[in-house]
Amino acid sequence: MKIFVVIFCGLSIAISVAAQTRESSTKPESRVTTRSAVDVVPLPSSKGLNSTQAAGKKLFVQRCSVCHLPALPSYTAYGPLLNKAMVADRGDEVVRLQIMQGSPRMPGFQYTLSPKEIDQLVVYLKTLDVLNKE
Ligand code: HEC
Repeated sequence: MKIFVVIFCGLSIAISVAAQTRESSTKPESRVTTRSAVDVVPLPSSKGLNSTQAAGKKLFVQRCSVCHLPALPSYTAYGPLLNKAMVADRGDEVVRLQIMQGSPRMPGFQYTLSPKEIDQLVVYLKTLDVLNKE
């Protein structure tokens, strides 16, 4: 009886090892899809931005893009897409107030961003002209 148990165990171990080997040999080399930030966040390149605009871009990506850029998987943004036409239409002061005070669906940043940082953001928004698909 014992010998059957040993044979049975040995067989099942051999089968599972074989199955695992087959699985790993049929696995494609890499399943990771390489996506660059450019695929996901359709922001224009930073080339040509001066230091204030670049500082504003960094803040925008960190603090605003979660709502103001479309994100996977829905490709729709929670907030409106922002660009220089919007800033020109509303005026710098209104845009600064919106950023500071927020609105029903947007938090205000007056306690978390300095006036200088808010200026950098406004300066950066004025460089955007491609995000006006909506
Ligand atoms: C939690 C999501 C969220 C975050 C984070 C956010 N916003 Fe907003 N924002 C909105 C929404 C939603 C609106 C539309 C107004 C509304 O519904 O309250 C808006 C409106 C605006 C407007 C007015 C646009 C217009 O057409 O008048 C500006 C300017 C703006 N946001 C700038 C910013 C900036 C700059 C940041 C980062 C510092 C930021 N927002 C962060 C959600 C957000």
